[in-house]
Amino acid sequence: TTERSLVLVKPDGVRRGLTGQVLARIEAKGYTLAALQILTPDRARLEQHYAEHEGKPFYEPLLEFMSSGPVCAVVVEGERCIEGFRALAGTTDPTAAAPGSIRGDLGRDWGSKVQQNIVHGSDSPESAAREIGIWFPGL
Ligand code: CMP
Repeated sequence: TTERSLVLVKPDGVRRGLTGQVLARIEAKGYTLAALQILTPDRARLEQHYAEHEGKPFYEPLLEFMSSGPVCAVVVEGERCIEGFRALAGTTDPTAAAPGSIRGDLGRDWGSKVQQNIVHGSDSPESAAREIGIWFPGL
């Protein structure tokens, strides 16, 4: 069945000029860009988005990092695109992510308290619906 996933090019990805490459990989895979916006997220939006991580040691550094500059928020659409984008992205730790993936090809550890791993992708249809509501209310 056709799914939607909420993808973010995080501030490190936008700062490094990788937005186009990330979007190109999504399109080359055969997924559709259904909605897109560039914005610097405020704390309230990030608290909603990262609610499940509240209290974890990397939570505050994560919110600080994510609000440090513009992100590119995208609704990606396609058959099994949630799992598909996560495979494109690679594992969370960019040092360990497989070459061929976005994080494996373009990311590394920068010695910060938060993993600056270029992209976010929803991990389930439930998270996707929730996250799309946060970034694209009304979609
Ligand atoms: P994301 O998929 O956006 O979800 C939570 C984010 O927190 C994750 O990507 C990383 O950027 C960051 N993160 C997850 N685990 C850790 C960790 N153990 N240490 C630091 N940052 C982390």
